[in-house]
Parts: sequence; C-alpha cells; structure tokens
Amino acid sequence: MNHLTPDDIAQFDEEGYLVFEGLFDHDLNERIKADVDQLMIDRETDKRRMLMAYPELGLLTSEPSVVDRVADLMNGKKFVHHHIHARWQLPGERGAPWHQDYAQIPHTNRSHLMVHVFMYMNGLNGEVGDLLVMPGTHKKVMANDAYRQFQFEDLPGSRTIDNLAHGSIVIVHSALQHARRPKPGGGIYKRYFIDTSYCEEGILWPSYPNIAEINRVALETGCDRNGKYAFLYDTSQFFERKDYMNTLNEKNQGSLALQL
Ligand SMILES: [Fe+2]
Repeated sequence: MNHLTPDDIAQFDEEGYLVFEGLFDHDLNERIKADVDQLMIDRETDKRRMLMAYPELGLLTSEPSVVDRVADLMNGKKFVHHHIHARWQLPGERGAPWHQDYAQIPHTNRSHLMVHVFMYMNGLNGEVGDLLVMPGTHKKVMANDAYRQFQFEDLPGSRTIDNLAHGSIVIVHSALQHARRPKPGGGIYKRYFIDTSYCEEGILWPSYPNIAEINRVALETGCDRNGKYAFLYDTSQFFERKDYMNTLNEKNQGSLALQL
C-alpha cells in the first residue's frame, strides 16, 4: 500500500510532483510534531542537536510510507538520504522566492534523480505560507535561482497548493521550481514544515559537511529499522563541495566540454 501506480509515476515524470493528503496517521503525526516542538525549544535555548538525534525526526528519514514511494520513483535504483530539515512557521513568516533545490555543481544535466519530500503536519490552510509549484520545470537544466526575480508571483501554468489535510506530504523532483508565498496569517495556525531528501546512487552528490556523523547517528539510533533501510545512510555517495569550488571557479570559463 506504500507503492505508486503507473499513473502516479507518469504524472511525476510529467509534472515533477505528487501530493499525498493525510498520509500520516494521527499518532505518528502527533509524535513528529512533539519532536519539532522540542527542536524549536532547543534552538531557542541553544541546546542544538542534529535533527537525526531526535527520535521521531530520525526515524522519519526512513519512514516506510515515504521511502517506499520514493523507491518506486527511483525505478529500482538504489538511493541515499541527503538531509532532513524541520521547523514550524508562524504568522508573519517571510516567503521563499521561486527556486529549485537540485544539488549539482554546476547545473549541466538531470541524469540522476533527486527528490525532496515536503511534509505538512498541520496541513496547509491558506494562512502563513502557500506552496507554489511550476509543473515541468524539473525537465529543464537551470540554476537554482533562475526564477528568483519572480519572487512569489503566480506564473503562467504555476499552481498554488494552499489546502492540505494534516499529515500530508508532497514529493517533488528536486529540480522543480517552487516557492513559499507569505500570507498574512489568520491567528493561531502553526505551519509545521519538514523536508527530507533522497538521491539516486551512481554519482557523487554534494552534501552537508557533517554527513558522516549524521549517518553514524542514524545507524546507531536504529533509523535503519533493523537494517532494512541501512542503504539510506551511505556516506560514500557524497562529496564535500568546498574541496572543489576553487578549482571549478578557475576552470568554469567558456564551454566545459572542451575541458573534459
Ligand atoms: Fe526549496
């Protein structure tokens, strides 16, 4: 039941995203929210811990209802977990202008799949922040900020997602242009937002600097669910971007094809 239909996969390939409303049951959703609540308190009090060390957030990175769907999009290829971010957003939250999050330096192709999973524990209700997506843009190769000048505007063909049940997720191709449009907020609505991300194996992906430590904690705390999802926490699939940036900046002139 955690699997995608051929229609789902075709829709993802064409549009670059899939919505699953109310995917998480009430208990799981509440447990995750409690972890985010604790995380936000810890951030205020400077007791910073990596997200993987929070029991529910760590486990969320291998949540079968998410990861098994991602596996279907990967079409039999192995893949690894790239990151988890989590927070809540309150009335007055600023927006995030149009952008895409595919991790590649520089952007030259889309040979391997990377997805982000956007999770809304309190759903979306038109307050605080709407999700905007631009279907099909994942098929184009462009810089992360290529649409930035459009800020939070509706664009020809763009869609606004502002009404989702609690515990909903949206799986997006990481190269899909998307934005968070700020809304004035109606009162007490708290917009819980978590994103996790997964990368197809076969190439090296730019990672956060502490990926080895994050993966060590994931395995130590049982995020691999008795080994079934241990493949997600494989540090060998990543490289450290800062080690390469100087060389790239020196060589990134004219047609890179001439430098291969
Ligand atoms: Fe994003």
